[in-house]
Order: sequence, then structure tokens, then C-alpha cells
Amino acid sequence: MAEHDSISKVITILFLLFLLESSSGQLDPNYYYSSCPQISDIVKTTVESAIANDARLGASLLRLFFHDCFVNGCDGSILLDDTPTFTGEKTAKPNNNSVRGFEVVDQIKSAVEKACPGVVSCADILAIASRDSVVILKGPTWDVKLGRRDSKTASLQNANNDIPPPTSSLSNLTSKYAAKGLSAKDMVALSGAHTIGQARCTNFRDHIYNDTNIEASFARSSLQPICPKLTGSGDNILAPLDTHTPTTFDNYYFKNLVSKRGLLHSDQELFNGGSTDSQVKSYSSSSTAFFADFVSAMIKMGDISPLTGSNGEIRKNCRKIN
Ligand code: HEM
Ligand SMILES: *[C@@H]1O[C@H](CO)[C@@H](O)[C@H](O)[C@H]1NC(C)=O
Ligand SMILES: *[C@@H]1O[C@H](CO)[C@@H](O)[C@H](O)[C@H]1NC(C)=O
Ligand SMILES: *[C@@H]1O[C@H](CO)[C@@H](O)[C@H](O)[C@H]1NC(C)=O
Repeated sequence: MAEHDSISKVITILFLLFLLESSSGQLDPNYYYSSCPQISDIVKTTVESAIANDARLGASLLRLFFHDCFVNGCDGSILLDDTPTFTGEKTAKPNNNSVRGFEVVDQIKSAVEKACPGVVSCADILAIASRDSVVILKGPTWDVKLGRRDSKTASLQNANNDIPPPTSSLSNLTSKYAAKGLSAKDMVALSGAHTIGQARCTNFRDHIYNDTNIEASFARSSLQPICPKLTGSGDNILAPLDTHTPTTFDNYYFKNLVSKRGLLHSDQELFNGGSTDSQVKSYSSSSTAFFADFVSAMIKMGDISPLTGSNGEIRKNCRKIN
């Protein structure tokens, strides 16, 4: 009897492991190996020339992937344009007048449609373009899991609720990531993406005028002169998220946090006397540690609720449902 019990327990456990494996195991780095072998070269060369013209585009593409994955999973939903009868995610608070890089995605998509029509999803294009951006800007590389399909819907409301705002506290951030199955450790590693790119005055004004956990001369001499105190004046003026090396993917974001030079309130929350201080310290002294954890967190983020099998579709144009 006891023996029978333990055999059925083993069978149950094996079955559960199988389910676990097949839920995220549907994505595969070799997914387009025979259906579209050109995909890697097309994305890489297009992203290279985009970044050669405007280094910030690497940052913008990486951020698009984050904003895609956090809203109903990595399904290309952020790429859909609004129409008179369809509201997408582009005007959600974290996206409006802020997300960019859509023309690069269009360029990749049209080249890919010529080479292998109807095969490669827009969601996968974002995943590969993000990795390539990081590599081109001198960050780490990794194998991107592929096989996501594109959504036929979008959610303005989920974009507003699920993407964390820059006013977030450490516990606000931790809970938004936990809701996506990501740990506080993943959250800190992924935040290292702010080693590249820019933010608008409207998103760091309160931090540079009202917060006390910011190095005084950095706030007063570097930032206040470019970002006026009055709400509504100069809202779109830009400052680099990493004041030291804004177009290189390195660990200066974390070095800045240790010296209280985070640009956003939410950035400095990661090093403000709380539970994530030690991780920030460790990344600030080891880019190898940062790169390793960033890669595994990017792969985890890329696994959020993919559409596979007969769910979703392969869009012909990333901006429109077929
Ligand atoms: C931890 C929570 C996060 C918050 C609160 C946050 C917030 C922000 C804000 C407010 C901006 C500036 C937007 C603007 O002013 O127009 C920004 C930019 C950016 N974010 Fe985040 N972010 C977070 C996490 C991430 C993650 C996980 C990634 C990618 C893995 C990412 C990648 C970027 C990049 C690359 C930029 C610069 C984009 C550009 O220059 O076009 N962020 N973020
Ligand atoms: C988005 O930005 C535009 C242009 O600045 C503005 O007119 C519009 O009200 C904003 N939309 C939302 C939903 O905030
Ligand atoms: C952070 O969490 C607190 C407590 O749950 C909540 O009142 C506040 O609105 C949240 N702030 C943000 C920016 O999400
Ligand atoms: C700073 O805090 C004060 C008092 O809470 C508030 O009135 C003001 O709008 C805040 N922001 C700036 C940029 O001063």
C-alpha cells in the first residue's frame, strides 16, 4: 500500500514537472531555424544602422520590450496604433509622449515579411531587437527564446496599472514585479537597463527639487538648471538616466545610485537604506555580476504569458491587427 502511494506521488510530481516545462518551454531559441533563418541578420543589421544614426534608439527598443511584456505578456500589444474604433496602449500614462522606436520595428518587419512572409511575430522582433541593442551598446549577450505570437487586443487600463511609475517606492516596485512572477532581485537587475537612455523633466522634477536622498550639487548644478521647477514648464526636456555613460550598457547606473545620483525617485529607492542596497553595491563593483543577473532576468521577463499554438496571430504589420 505504502509502496503504491509513493509510486503515484512520483508519477504526480513528474506530471507536474512536465506541465511546468511545457508552459514556458514552448519558446525556443531555434524556433525560426528552418522557417526564417534570415531573422537574426535582418534584426541585427537594422538595429545597428538605427543606433548608428541615434544611439538612444537602443534604449528605446529595450524599453518597448519591457512595456510590452508587463502588459498582458510579451505579445506585441504596445505596437498597435490607435484608430477611431480601437484604443491601444500608446497613450497610457507611462507611454504617452515617451515610447519611441516604432519606425525601427516597422523597418525590421517589412524586411522580414519580404524574406519569410507571415512567419515571424512582432513580439519576437521586439525580443531580438532588445538583445541586439544591449549587445551593440557593449552589454552582455544571450540566446533569445522565440515562438511568441501577436495579440489581437491591447489594454490601455493594464498599461496604466501594471507598468510602475517613477514615483514608486521600493515596496510599490517589488509588488508590481511580483505580480509578473519576477523577484525583487530580478527587479534590481532589470533596472540596470537605466544605464542607457533618457528621461523627461516631468518624470524627475519632484526628485530633484523635493527629495533629500539625492546628492545636493548633482541636483542643483546638473539637473535643476535644465528642468524648471514649475509643473508644465519644460516637461519634455531630457536628461540621461545614467549621467556618466548614457549610451554604454555598463554598471555605472549602480555606481551612480551608490553616490546618490539616481535620476528618478524610483531609481534611488533601490539604494536608500533598504533591503536592495547590498545588491546595488555588489553590481556597482562587479559588472560581471550585473550582466549575469540581467541576462537571466531578461529571459524570465521574456517568458511572461506568451501567446503560442493557435492563440493570437502573426501580424503582417506590427501596428495593426490582421
Ligand atoms: C523598475 C521600474 C521602472 C520604472 C519606474 C521605470 C521608469 C522609467 C521612466 C519614467 C523613464 C523615462 C520616460 C520618459 O521620461 O519619457 C524610463 C526610461 C527608460 N526605461 Fe525604465 N523604468 C523601470 C524599469 C525598466 C526596465 C525593467 C527596463 C528594461 C529592461 C527599462 C528600460 C528603460 C529605458 C532603456 C529607458 C530609456 C528609454 C529612452 O531613452 O527612449 N526600465 N523608465
Ligand atoms: C497624450 O499626449 C497628448 C499630446 O501631448 C495630449 O494631448 C493627450 O492629452 C495625452 N493623452 C493622455 C491620455 O494623457
Ligand atoms: C505605493 O503603495 C502605497 C501603499 O500600498 C499606495 O498607497 C501608493 O499609491 C503606491 N504608490 C504608487 C506610486 O504606486
Ligand atoms: C514639492 O513639494 C511641495 C510641498 O509638498 C509641493 O507643493 C510641490 O509641488 C512639490 N514639487 C516641486 C517640484 O516642488
